[in-house]
Amino acid sequence: MKDSTLLIPAPLREYMLAHSVPLDAVQRRIIEQTSTLPRVAHWQTAPEQSALLTLLARTLGARHAVDVGSFTGMSSLAIARGLRPGGRLIACDITDDWTPIAREAWQAAGVVDRIDLRIAPAIETLRALPAEPHLDFSFVDADKEGYLEYFEELIVRTRPGGIVAFDNVFRSGRVLKPVKEADHAVIEFNKRLVKDSRVEVVMLPVADGMSLVSRT
Ligand SMILES: C[S@@+](CC[C@H](N)C(=O)[O-])C[C@H]1O[C@@H](n2cnc3c(N)ncnc32)[C@H](O)[C@@H]1O
Repeated sequence: MKDSTLLIPAPLREYMLAHSVPLDAVQRRIIEQTSTLPRVAHWQTAPEQSALLTLLARTLGARHAVDVGSFTGMSSLAIARGLRPGGRLIACDITDDWTPIAREAWQAAGVVDRIDLRIAPAIETLRALPAEPHLDFSFVDADKEGYLEYFEELIVRTRPGGIVAFDNVFRSGRVLKPVKEADHAVIEFNKRLVKDSRVEVVMLPVADGMSLVSRT
């Protein structure tokens, strides 16, 4: 786990985490296991985001949820924990490389039965979902070039008042000074969202920036 974020110095972040819902043993184990993975360890959803995902899913009374980019399972675990009884989470990833870590955690947390993991390009999984507005909550944290398409597929399936959350909308600050292809994609995405009359957007300075998009 990173000890600071773009915006918050390490001591203040420690204070923030110490005064929010603490990590439990299952979350600490996923963090530990993910930290040993070469090159991709930093992909993991931060603890403060996990707590927020659970709270949002619970507050929305979510029965139908989607996680785009489930990786080693942290965000899916967080959302699944916030679902109301009988709720289902469709977790998407393009590879099952990290499925063993995720499944072990979901099993240990007692939420494995609520999670339907679909290994395929997420856009295919989303297009195959029922077309009517039934989703309460979704979280998107996969390939940034796909964000606009994910938004289009998810928003028409989201019920009024439902929320779609997008991670990494700051691109480590590079939305102000783009360097990579993915930075340009997120800049375009952020611009489009704020002009879309179907939604209200609140961009939060959580971790690497997280936009909450509510269907009006
Ligand atoms: C930043 S990680 C997600 C972190 C995760 N939300 C967590 O809680 O730790 C991005 C994930 O998106 C997946 N991914 C990338 N491109 C994808 C695509 N086109 N379709 C589905 N998943 C994709 C990657 O395999 C990776 O597991």
